[in-house]
Amino acid sequence: MRQHLFLAAFRSLLFLFFILKIVADLNSDQQALLNFAARVPHGRKLNWNLINPLCTTWVGVSCNHNGSRVVAVHLPAIGLLGPIPNNTLGKLDALMILSLRSNNLNGSLPSDLLSLPSLGYLYLQHNKFSGNIPSFLSTQLTFLDLSFNFFTGSIPSSVQNQTHLTGLNLQNNSLTGLIPNLNLTRLNYLNLSNNNLNGSIPPALQKFPASAFVGNAMLCGKPLNLCPTTAPTPSSFPSFLPPPPEGTQRMGSKKKLSRGGIIALAAIGGSALLFFLLMFVFCCLKKKDSERSIAAKGKGVRSEKPSEDFGSGVQEAERNKLVFFEGCSYNFDLEDLLRASAEVLGKGSYGTTYKAILEEGTTVVVKRLKELVAGKRDFEHQMEIVGRLGQHPNLVPLRAYYFSKDEKLLVYDYMVSGSFSALLHASKTGGRAPLDWDTRVKICLGAAKGIAHMHSTDGGKFIHGNIRSSNVLLTQDLNGCISDFGLATLMNYPAVPSRSAGYRAPELIETRKFTQKSDVYSFGVVLLEMLTGKAPVQTPGQEEVVDLPRWVQSVVREEWTAEVFDVELMKYPNIEEEMVQTLQIAMTCVSRVPDTRPTMEEVVRMIEEIRPLDPENRPSSEEKSSNTQTP
Ligand SMILES: *[C@@H]1O[C@H](CO)[C@@H](O)[C@H](O)[C@H]1NC(C)=O
Ligand SMILES: *[C@@H]1O[C@H](CO)[C@@H](O)[C@H](O)[C@H]1NC(C)=O
Ligand SMILES: *[C@@H]1O[C@H](CO)[C@@H](O)[C@H](O)[C@H]1NC(C)=O
Ligand SMILES: *[C@@H]1O[C@H](CO)[C@@H](O)[C@H](O)[C@H]1NC(C)=O
Ligand SMILES: *[C@@H]1O[C@H](CO)[C@@H](O)[C@H](O)[C@H]1NC(C)=O
Ligand SMILES: *[C@@H]1O[C@H](CO)[C@@H](O)[C@H](O)[C@H]1NC(C)=O
Ligand SMILES: *[C@@H]1O[C@H](CO)[C@@H](O)[C@H](O)[C@H]1NC(C)=O
Ligand SMILES: *[C@@H]1O[C@H](CO)[C@@H](O)[C@H](O)[C@H]1NC(C)=O
Repeated sequence: MRQHLFLAAFRSLLFLFFILKIVADLNSDQQALLNFAARVPHGRKLNWNLINPLCTTWVGVSCNHNGSRVVAVHLPAIGLLGPIPNNTLGKLDALMILSLRSNNLNGSLPSDLLSLPSLGYLYLQHNKFSGNIPSFLSTQLTFLDLSFNFFTGSIPSSVQNQTHLTGLNLQNNSLTGLIPNLNLTRLNYLNLSNNNLNGSIPPALQKFPASAFVGNAMLCGKPLNLCPTTAPTPSSFPSFLPPPPEGTQRMGSKKKLSRGGIIALAAIGGSALLFFLLMFVFCCLKKKDSERSIAAKGKGVRSEKPSEDFGSGVQEAERNKLVFFEGCSYNFDLEDLLRASAEVLGKGSYGTTYKAILEEGTTVVVKRLKELVAGKRDFEHQMEIVGRLGQHPNLVPLRAYYFSKDEKLLVYDYMVSGSFSALLHASKTGGRAPLDWDTRVKICLGAAKGIAHMHSTDGGKFIHGNIRSSNVLLTQDLNGCISDFGLATLMNYPAVPSRSAGYRAPELIETRKFTQKSDVYSFGVVLLEMLTGKAPVQTPGQEEVVDLPRWVQSVVREEWTAEVFDVELMKYPNIEEEMVQTLQIAMTCVSRVPDTRPTMEEVVRMIEEIRPLDPENRPSSEEKSSNTQTP
């Protein structure tokens, strides 16, 4: 009995020790990263601090599936400056992937870094490192990219022992001496060009193309020129070995990515019915149609175009006016609008939207609001704000409105390219070619800018309240524009239908109060939708709404980040890292605690920073092998 007790106590002690050890390991990783951030100046602010949870929110940091260790650090092009201090990143002894490419790091590499036991992928290209390449290398090293630095000395002969090595890029350094005979079976990418290497190319490397060795004036032998007579190489006559297929090592295991459940858009039902309903209403409104007075009368900044009485009996003249905004070039009135041929575009949260083609050929979008709680004065005040906001290039401009007791109409420009939602999911439902990565990022950045601008107006209190991919409309050249803004405050809270539920921040269930942070959450879901290609909407025949943030979180935890991405994106080269960073931005936006979400201003900056404006600045193609490894 006593023995049992003792054993149980021992077991729980062991368990406690185990837990403590995990916490201790993660704490040590966290401390190492904090030391690094504190000692290396960086242009872009990192959200690394003790308040934000390390594994889920820190920019550029990925943990293993059970969140006990840091396994990857990606900090490309964030303006890191100066040397990597000893005892910082070199303390991350579970690290498998490190990318610090395209920064301004200099000095020599700390000896503790390349010897990290699990380190498999190291990307330090496009920095200003100098000194020798350390000779103590991790046995797991799979890809080493030190290109475009100022390394001197010779290539360490210990590279010969790196049996896992598949790629070695040392181009554009100042390396000297002989090339070691790297007889490594897995090595299929090599670039030593633009150095000062000399001697003859060793036999094991002669299978690589000449471009892997060019720019080394003193280097000779196959595949370059013959060496001088003093050192004749036996196999110096030309042979036509095909160059190694460059794509093979890179794509590799990427194809294992599963598409996951394809989530169809909830069908927009009953549109035909609504169309007839509208026609009926319009017919009623037009009952007393007769000649109109075109006595347009400017009033202040607006031009108001009164039209004939309609509806039932006597009405104040005020009520029949379509109010146009300044700078609007449309030249029609309510009658014209009501006569236009209308087509239901969709039934949104706030009412039905129609595409109206006027007799003169102009196409506009008309939104019929329902269940308004605001009175006329509040409505007009809100419309003024909305009208002013619409001058931003990333916000769909409101051109005119109409307010009467029974009818509230909003007139917008018609956006030819439709909504982001439609375009994003079009390839799944058949039809168009999938949206490429650049376009997706461009659209999301535009949308983010639109929301950020919106949030900065009305004394920084403006809230959208219904951000989702179908409210991101696209201009002809595929710029993202936010629509439906300024309407939430006019509506009852429950007016938001279940179609928006997948975008709604969790705290809204309790507070029922939209905030800018709940907009940020919704935008985060749009980002996740863009990355995963999955829609956070109800699937037909299913009650459940897909909770995209939770789904992504579970996949990222259980498997590996690459699993979450839209398979359509897998065919574009060199974007893996940008995808991972965008995913991290999205995850901070959908944080459950509103206060830890960034502001839209910050989101815009983060998206701009992962996105080098010139395509020249793209990661080298080797880099995308980083995520093909499964821990
Ligand atoms: C977490 O995963 C690592 C391997 O990735 C494993 O070594 C460790 O024991 C796991 N810890 C727990 C608590 O499961
Ligand atoms: C790191 O430590 C080594 C000796 O262990 C020292 O030579 C080197 O200067 C140190 N580097 C930095 C950046 O402090
Ligand atoms: C590294 O860069 C910093 C900042 O530009 C500079 O002050 C320092 O002298 C550089 N160190 C080396 C070894 O080049
Ligand atoms: C490679 O490894 C072997 C055995 O581990 C060792 O004897 C040898 O010195 C190493 N070679 C180099 C160049 O480091
Ligand atoms: C790489 O080296 C070559 C030859 O020295 C040079 O022409 C080229 O500009 C270098 N590239 C970069 C990015 O430094
Ligand atoms: C290569 O260059 C080194 C100096 O960098 C020199 O000592 C060596 O003799 C040269 N070897 C050949 C084969 O030219
Ligand atoms: C490479 O090593 C293998 C055995 O590991 C050997 O058979 C082969 O001849 C070597 N090739 C060269 C070019 O050294
Ligand atoms: C090596 O780098 C040079 C310079 O960037 C490039 O021209 C060449 O195609 C590269 N070779 C290989 C095999 O990638």
